[in-house]
Amino acid sequence: RFRAKASKAKQAQSRIKMLAKMQPVATIINDPIPPIDLPSPDRLLNPPIVRFDEVSLGYEDEKPVLRNLNLRIDHDDRIGILGRNGEGKSTFAKGLLGLLEPQKGFIKRHKKLRIGYFAQHEIDALNMEHSAYDHVCALMPEATEAQRRARLARFGLGLAQSETKARDLSGGEKARLLFSLIGFHKPHLLVLDEPTNHLDIDSRAELAKSLNAYEGAVLLITHDRALLESVVDRLWVVENGDIRTYDGTMDEYRREQLERLRGQKRTAKRDTLPGKQEGRKHRAARRQALAPLKNRVKNLESEIEQTRAAITRLDESLSDPALFSEDRDKAIALSRQRAGLAGRLEALEESWYKAVEDYESAQE
Ligand SMILES: Nc1ncnc2c1ncn2[C@@H]1O[C@H](COP(=O)(O)OP(=O)(O)O)[C@@H](O)[C@H]1O
Ligand SMILES: [Mg+2]
Repeated sequence: RFRAKASKAKQAQSRIKMLAKMQPVATIINDPIPPIDLPSPDRLLNPPIVRFDEVSLGYEDEKPVLRNLNLRIDHDDRIGILGRNGEGKSTFAKGLLGLLEPQKGFIKRHKKLRIGYFAQHEIDALNMEHSAYDHVCALMPEATEAQRRARLARFGLGLAQSETKARDLSGGEKARLLFSLIGFHKPHLLVLDEPTNHLDIDSRAELAKSLNAYEGAVLLITHDRALLESVVDRLWVVENGDIRTYDGTMDEYRREQLERLRGQKRTAKRDTLPGKQEGRKHRAARRQALAPLKNRVKNLESEIEQTRAAITRLDESLSDPALFSEDRDKAIALSRQRAGLAGRLEALEESWYKAVEDYESAQE
């Protein structure tokens, strides 16, 4: 009996996930996860809201991380930022926020622009002695207790957690608190640097929903492909000190990364050909250190291939129109299987992407 129940629940979950995919904005289902509160700005500002003019950003003189950037962001832009670790994605965000002064050029922000900024170091900078309630009090000094409580309820933290000191909240709860704080003044632009690291799958889906409902501009730095695909409509790639627009899809970007990685392997092999004794030892040690990372990439790739193949097979079965009329139960079972595999594929691809990055940065 328990088993039947569990599978019903699973079935419902796949359906919910499928629905969420088809209609990211709609909230049909009675969701136990509270929404993430990101209110839209009252008024959209005239474009551009931010303009970069020959901007170089970095931490050491003469060594800019990003060089001569010319960019603009408009009030309704939805931009996803891609790039390997260490290329300067976070540096760009800090420059945009004015936390890092340009070494060269200038950044022009709309006079009335309010930016909501989410980043790990902003979580770390929360006042850890303050509860969510304390934060609301600080933000609404003139408000009545009832008004504060009403505002607090939108944080989606629950009654007990609202009184908990920030230091004692879980990672996900801290992230929620930060989301609520950055949304408090209805920003015109949200800059989200790796916002999903502490969020579970359901909260990520909530974030996607909130961002889709949000009417301001969004700049999203993340490896979370599902989130990117449901939120952004343009991609920028940070690479070799530059930020350029990317015309391809996420899939194409990944494929390029993969091909580049393979190209690197070939070059590495070529470079090792002559080799003196010392060099050979060194390279052997290096190979050994890299092997587990490389294996992980390979294993994930083969799992991804298998999962893709399984989905293709299911799609073939499901495309038979007779199936639904003749064996409804089977049709439903297959659809359910497909939804499960699609979810798995997504998770695998995300892991693959991270694994490739780990492998690459270990090579440097
Ligand atoms: N506070 C800092 N001081 C000095 N160098 C930094 C600092 N933050 C980042 N860097 C360097 O700047 C480069 C880009 O980093 P970052 O913008 O964090 O990359 P990403 O977010 O794309 O992973 C890296 O080489 C990194 O080591
Ligand atoms: Mg970063």
